[in-house]
Formats: sequence, C-alpha cells, structure tokens
Amino acid sequence: MRILVPRETRPGETRVSLSPDAVKALVAEGWQVLVESGAGALSNYLDEAYRDAGATVGSPDASDVTIRVNPPTVAEVAALREGSLHLSFLSPLLATDVVAALVAKNITVVSFDLVPRSTRAQYMDALSSQATVSGYRAALVAAAEFDRFFPLLTTAAGTIRPARVLIMGVGVAGLQAIATTKRLGAKVRAYDVRSAAKEEAESAGAVFVQLGVTADAAGGYARELTEDEKAAQQAALVDEVAAADIVITTAAVPGRKSPILVTRAMLDKMRPGSLVVDMAADGGGNCEATVAGQSIDVNGVRVIGMANPPAAMGSSASSMYANNVLKLLALYGQKGEVAPAWDDDIVRGATVTSNGIVHHGATAEALGVACEPLGEKE
Ligand code: NAI
Repeated sequence: MRILVPRETRPGETRVSLSPDAVKALVAEGWQVLVESGAGALSNYLDEAYRDAGATVGSPDASDVTIRVNPPTVAEVAALREGSLHLSFLSPLLATDVVAALVAKNITVVSFDLVPRSTRAQYMDALSSQATVSGYRAALVAAAEFDRFFPLLTTAAGTIRPARVLIMGVGVAGLQAIATTKRLGAKVRAYDVRSAAKEEAESAGAVFVQLGVTADAAGGYARELTEDEKAAQQAALVDEVAAADIVITTAAVPGRKSPILVTRAMLDKMRPGSLVVDMAADGGGNCEATVAGQSIDVNGVRVIGMANPPAAMGSSASSMYANNVLKLLALYGQKGEVAPAWDDDIVRGATVTSNGIVHHGATAEALGVACEPLGEKE
C-alpha cells in the first residue's frame, strides 16, 4: 500500500510529516512512499534524500495513507482516496468543516492531538515532541532579543547580574524553556495552576511561584479558571511580572482560547527593555498585547507573539514528528498494509472517525451527529 507525504500548505510552515530516515524504515517494512516534490525543502530534507531512502518523488496522487503535519483543507480532502487513512494534527473541534468532508469520504482519521498522554503513548506523543521544540526555541528567541546577558558574569569591566526569567505554564514546552534559560545562566521562576507542576518545575531548575490558585482537570490538564480565580491570579501576578526581565508564556487549556495571564497594566509595570515571549500566540495569546507572528513595542517592553513555534526549527521538529508517526502508524498498519488495531486504547482515543462513523464524542457533538465510540463497536 502507498503512503503519501504532501507538501504542507499552511503559510509559514517549514515542517514535513516524514523525514528521509522515517521513509527508509517504512520502505523496509513493505510500504510504498510517494513524497510530493519539494515537501521537505524548508526543513532541509531534499528530494534526493527521499529518493535515496526508497521513496518516489513527484506530484501528489490519491494514496492508501496520507500523512500531514497540519490538517488538510476541504479542497485537499477532495483529493484524498475514499476510505483511506489520514494522520495529522487535526484539532477536529477547530476544523469541523474538514472533519465533515473526511467523514463523507469514509476516511479513517487519526489526530495527533487526541493521542492519550499515557506512558505507553509517549513515543507517539507529537504534542510533546513539538512542544519540546517550541520551549527550546522560545528560550533562544528571548536570549537573542534581550539586550543584556543571561548569566552572572564577573569581569574586569564590571559584574553583570543574571537575567530574571519567569515561565508561565509548566507543561512540556514550559519545562524545556526552564531548562534552556537555566542552562544559559538566568535566574528562573515558574508558575502553573496544576498542582503537579511545582515538583516538575523545581526538577528542571526553577523556583516555583505559589499563588494559591490551583485548577487541576482530567487527564493531567488544567481547567479554565473562574472569573474570581482569574482576578485573584492576575492580582497576585503583578509583582512577579514587574520583577521579571523576561516572561515566557506557554499556558493553554485544551479546546479553549489561551488564558490571559499578562495584562496591559502588568506590561506598564515592567522595566523598559523587558520582553514577553508568548508561545500561546496561535491560540489567542497569554498576553493582552500579543499579535501572532509579530514583535511589538509597548512603552519599551517588547511582546513577541511566536506563530507556529516548531516551524522555526523545521528539521528537528520534522524528524521528531516523523518518529512519532512511525510509532502511531504501527498501530494502524503493519508490513505495508493498513490494519488498525481497533481494540488498542491509543487507537480508540486518537481515531476521530472511520467508515463514516464519528468516534470522538466532542467532535460528534460539534457536528450534530451520533457518536459511536470505538470500544463499543466491537
Ligand atoms: P498544555 O500545552 O496543554 O498547557 C501548558 C501549561 O499551561 C500546562 O502545564 C497548564 O497547566 C498550564 N496552564 C493552563 N492554564 C493556566 C493558567 N490559567 N495559568 C497558569 N498556567 C496555566 O500542556 P502540555 O505540555 O500539553 O501538558 C499537559 C499535561 O499533560 C501536563 O500535565 C503534562 O505533564 C501531561 N503530559 C503527560 C505525558 C505523559 O504522561 N505521557 C506527556 C506529556 C504531557
């Protein structure tokens, strides 16, 4: 059976869904792979490397399996093969028109953002691999844009005090941002509403900021705060933000707009030359002044809205994503043949739809159709 790797069409995207190494592994397993010409060019994986790995390189053609990073457009769904398998970061609730088109074509749809955050699923957890890239990159953007040193330096030309960094949101990206800013020598503080985050932040090297607001929810995620909690959190954060040279924000609540943590009033209290690097810009931003993809000046404080942060390091991000793909695809097909392991809990969690039936409850609700969870089908 044939796997198609199309060129990503999202503006600003540099990633590709399979690296040449991943293609080689799939070809060795018995799959045919068709890579759209130029698909890997922006992550420095050239057509020649895909050919050397055993792929055919050329124009996209309807295939048994299509693997993307971003969701397809409705027009791109029209070009997919009826009844085929599709894997991507679909975020089905944000793309219901696309899901409806996929359901109508009886396509089996696997969405990386629905892979359970379990120990066994870690190898196929692309949310985590891409967040690792984002957190690292945000720390480097902060260091590159800041007009002072990060580390404490004692030199003949004077003593430099270390930069003070505040990380808000200590998930996978936040932990990587802590580790990277710490390695560069900054004094790092971190804040999150999940109770488990304290120990995780401390083990990465940060001092944890306790504000007395906790919001644990199912699956290890945070829930949205109530209006009273938001007000209490913002009041308590004013001094923390004012004392920081750099604030890196990563806070997200699944399926919701990113919470506002840094208000314009807080920006007014920051020193000129300070920075806010907002990794949640694509989801609306954690700072009131954030504009995705732009760096703006608010009275001497720069607010950098990182759009699609993993795309800033296309090569590493693509290679990590491709490794996640190999592991997840193995649950949907073996030895070059599609054969989903329907009774596997990861397959049950990550499959949005198959054979025209919607398996994911929230997606079925958004589409106004009946939901048939996979576990109940058998
Ligand atoms: P995420 O991208 O959904 O959110 C980032 C962080 O923002 C989270 O730590 C969240 O608690 C925090 N946040 C949300 N609202 C906030 C607010 N109002 N104020 C401050 N912070 C706020 O997080 P990510 O990286 O996807 O991780 C989500 C959960 O999944 C975590 O508990 C993580 O430890 C867990 N996880 C488990 C894995 C496994 O067991 N295999 C792998 C990866 C993550």
